[in-house]
Amino acid sequence: MSRIEKSLERAIEMRESLRKGPGKETRANTAAKADITKFESGEPLISAEAVDRQIVCIRDPNSLVAEQYKKLRARILKSAGDSLNTVMVTSSQIGEGKTITAINLAVAVAGQLDHTVLLVDADLRNPSVHKYLGMKPGCGLADYLRGDVKLSDALIKTGIGKLVLLPAGNPPDNPSELLSSEKMKGLVDEIKNRYSDRYIIFDSSPLLAAADSISLAGYMDGVLLVVQAGHTAPKAARKALSLIKGCRLLGAVFNNVPEYLARQQIYSYNVYGSTYGGEKNPR
Ligand SMILES: Nc1ncnc2c1ncn2[C@@H]1O[C@H](COP(=O)(O)OP(=O)(O)OP(=O)(O)O)[C@@H](O)[C@H]1O
Ligand SMILES: [Mg+2]
Repeated sequence: MSRIEKSLERAIEMRESLRKGPGKETRANTAAKADITKFESGEPLISAEAVDRQIVCIRDPNSLVAEQYKKLRARILKSAGDSLNTVMVTSSQIGEGKTITAINLAVAVAGQLDHTVLLVDADLRNPSVHKYLGMKPGCGLADYLRGDVKLSDALIKTGIGKLVLLPAGNPPDNPSELLSSEKMKGLVDEIKNRYSDRYIIFDSSPLLAAADSISLAGYMDGVLLVVQAGHTAPKAARKALSLIKGCRLLGAVFNNVPEYLARQQIYSYNVYGSTYGGEKNPR
């Protein structure tokens, strides 16, 4: 059993021990005590009310917007085959919707599949997964890569399906070096090679901003490029694509297109209104 698998199992054991309360002094029990201390010292599990409203797959899973992420999930799982475990969500510049896409996609996948989905915040310069999930910052990927913590101490079982979070952790001075390190490659390789039924979704920093995501893309099975309507310049998107040439591009997410949602609304009214609502289909 690999270190990563052991860490995930330990996280699950800890949770179970916490739920069952005090009992025999087992390894899991001792670990659970350590975990209680960790939570008491201010590191919470996710509470749905604290999650940002834009994480619709948690806050409003039956909404039209959440449905779009489920469509994205379906497209990715369909194209996945056996050789796609690790997916990086990236974009050319800042603020195009990488993090919101990565979290919603991870929650959507975790909601469908009965196995662990790992969401990794690999934006070590501007980590925000924990903010959208309403969590306080704590240790994470950067601390693990620096050798300061064990992986098991950085993983957080979210309580949302089998979604496990690896937050970015304490900001490092050398994010590019950490993300392109042998240790990072080892982490990705181990997950990728041993667990063909697992999905690991990486949030990342903008491709044009620094070398971080360019290196990381080289370790991934697939890359999703987020392009924001009215925001991403075609030249920037082309440049971003040129930087990840040779990587498997799964496709682009055309994000924040209000007209698209309006069209979907009409579509769902026309189709589902006639089927389930008893309304006459106006088409
Ligand atoms: N589908 C969407 N609809 C409306 N607004 C969106 C959507 N996706 C993202 N946004 C808006 O874009 C902003 C940035 O989103 P997000 O944090 O996901 O981007 P990012 O690419 O991860 O940014 P950064 O490069 O700073 O990490 C947020 O303020 C969010 O409200
Ligand atoms: Mg982000």
